[in-house]
Amino acid sequence: MGPAAGERQSSSSTSAELFQAQAHIYSHVSSYMNSMALRSAVELGIADAIQTHGGAITLPQLVSAVKIDPTKSDYLYRLMRILVHSGFFSETGDAYLLTPSSKLLLKSHPNSLSAVVKLIPRLEFVTPCFLMGDWLREQGEKTAFETAHGGTPFWEYSEGNPEFNSLFNEAMANDSGLLENLVVGDCGLVFQGIESLVDVGGGTGTAGRIISETFPGIRCKVLDLPQVIGDGRLANSEGNLEFVAGDMFDHVPSAQAVLLKCVLHDWNNEECVKILKKCKEAISAKAGEGGKVIVIDIVVNEKNDDHELAGMKLRFDMLMMLLLKGKERSEKEWEGLFLEAGFKHYKITPLFGFSSLIEVFP
Ligand SMILES: C[S@@+](CC[C@H](N)C(=O)[O-])C[C@H]1O[C@@H](n2cnc3c(N)ncnc32)[C@H](O)[C@@H]1O
Repeated sequence: MGPAAGERQSSSSTSAELFQAQAHIYSHVSSYMNSMALRSAVELGIADAIQTHGGAITLPQLVSAVKIDPTKSDYLYRLMRILVHSGFFSETGDAYLLTPSSKLLLKSHPNSLSAVVKLIPRLEFVTPCFLMGDWLREQGEKTAFETAHGGTPFWEYSEGNPEFNSLFNEAMANDSGLLENLVVGDCGLVFQGIESLVDVGGGTGTAGRIISETFPGIRCKVLDLPQVIGDGRLANSEGNLEFVAGDMFDHVPSAQAVLLKCVLHDWNNEECVKILKKCKEAISAKAGEGGKVIVIDIVVNEKNDDHELAGMKLRFDMLMMLLLKGKERSEKEWEGLFLEAGFKHYKITPLFGFSSLIEVFP
């Protein structure tokens, strides 16, 4: 006698569940191929080749344009197939076309993100991820990055490795380039009426430059470590933009507003409170005149964000945990930091993409 109808149904739903679970695991465990395929596309200059070719390119033309060994044409076809599947290129007839995402990888794009794509799958980032399990079991204060790099903290490693340092700074500058849309768009109101601003941890000054050019009435300073600012930039200071090499834990130059873009997520709560207190001191002289700290960073909201966005924020949280002692924070966690640093209130405006803008008032 065979199984009763109810039993058959439950065993087939169990198999469906099992295969779904298998697919779920395989999908996740192979997802690093997405980063690697994208990274290869940038290294090979595929987007640039399509653009140079008038916006559409066939496989044989692409093979020759990006100098693939002709015996590997089929491998390039397979690389393109996954990149089409993930939305980086599209196809018409026998030609590949750019999509909005691959346009952002063009060297000529003013907001090109090609350095970000080269940076994040680098071994310096990936090796600490391999160590996550052991690192979680180990006692001690060392980050997984330090464990992977002979005890050297992230910023010191960057200082000692000029090639890494310059790719990191370029990647940050790429990301800040997108701020232009924000500054000239609706959120420009945030900067209106401000006379002086210091961009703390402002990297090579992309955001500072955009703000100072869009608002010539704002005197801007960019504060960052000497390895990032360099002596040359001090000499190059001009107009309403000035570079200051220094340590934000020691001193933040006084200004009416302080910008902290993608800085606080690099640090643990204690360190963030120290940075925020320094920023509060910096704006305190002007507090009666609309002084504020402007934070641009991720706000984790996995219940309301769509699934892809929430996943991306949580992956960045893992990176911050492993590379630095940082984290991506929920609104509640941000609020805790602001109050502990002595600020009275704040206002969050979600931005396009994955960051939010938080105005923090003393
Ligand atoms: C994630 S990057 C963000 C750069 C820039 N704000 C942006 O969004 O493109 C963090 C920056 O903080 C800087 N930084 C790290 N420690 C610092 C310190 N103690 N004082 C000043 N800047 C620091 C780094 O050099 C780096 O440029």
